[in-house]
Amino acid sequence: MSIVQQTVRSFTGKYENFEVKEHPVHHRLYTIEVDKKVLVTFLEKNKEVTSQRLEYVPYMRLVLADSLQSSIGSEFVQTIRAILHDRNSGGFTIGLQSLTIDEEDYVKFATAISHLVGGVNFDAMSGTYYARFSVKDTDHSDSYLRQAYRLFTLHTDGTYVDETTDWLLMMKFSEEHAAGGESRLMHLDDWEELDKFSGHPIGSCRIEYRAPSSKNVSKSVYNRTFYEVNGKPCICFIDQFAYPSTIEEAVYLKELSDSMENSRATIALPLPAGDLVMINNTFWLHGRAPFEKNQKLYRELLRQRGYFAKV
Ligand SMILES: [Fe+2]
Repeated sequence: MSIVQQTVRSFTGKYENFEVKEHPVHHRLYTIEVDKKVLVTFLEKNKEVTSQRLEYVPYMRLVLADSLQSSIGSEFVQTIRAILHDRNSGGFTIGLQSLTIDEEDYVKFATAISHLVGGVNFDAMSGTYYARFSVKDTDHSDSYLRQAYRLFTLHTDGTYVDETTDWLLMMKFSEEHAAGGESRLMHLDDWEELDKFSGHPIGSCRIEYRAPSSKNVSKSVYNRTFYEVNGKPCICFIDQFAYPSTIEEAVYLKELSDSMENSRATIALPLPAGDLVMINNTFWLHGRAPFEKNQKLYRELLRQRGYFAKV
């Protein structure tokens, strides 16, 4: 046994305007239930705010976050930030509890939550601070993002951009005729072969990443697959956009991806419409299970990515 005992902090409990519980599907995630009256107050107070105004006037996103904070209390902000920073967890789900099915409300709630955590990166694919994308029966795009019937392999976000991507938020907007297609998540510390791949010499070599044209990012970036934060390995990886320069690097990345896909630690997470999952992007990997074939399949998600607040 190690001489240094690790303290495992739990955030579960009843707080003044919200409750934190262990997530029923993933032992490392929490699920947060906000008191309904707080959610109703937030939605009522911001009835006049539109997603267009949030896109055009950046400070409105922070004003919205302030509005949620004033209804729910600063303890909520401290708690979600602490969960996302906590290496033992680093993620939670939260939702609007069927109080609304208005997609404008979904955008506002996701925006308030993300801006309580930090800054949001510009999403070049959509041209604003968030992206909404749908998955349907047919697809003619240039990446796995919208291809319904194939496995979307485990990856981190922000691999091909020159910006810090500390966290990722995904919110389910709608889902019709959808079987399968769950988000697949893996916490790095649950992966059986973490030591083997993070300790490999190629793990610290810089690999070139380039985005396909739909992402509207033309410059290459060079990332190490593994890097350390607070003495723990973190990962930066996506199979589709990596351009390894040697056969050895390519074989290493292929084996790494196969190992993660086959890991027992990779767990499918169901997410109802109106719920979001927020994870630390430096030690969680995400992907998507294939959907079952259905001509009427339609699923829409919103995503935001960004960096932790420095204050
Ligand atoms: Fe992603």
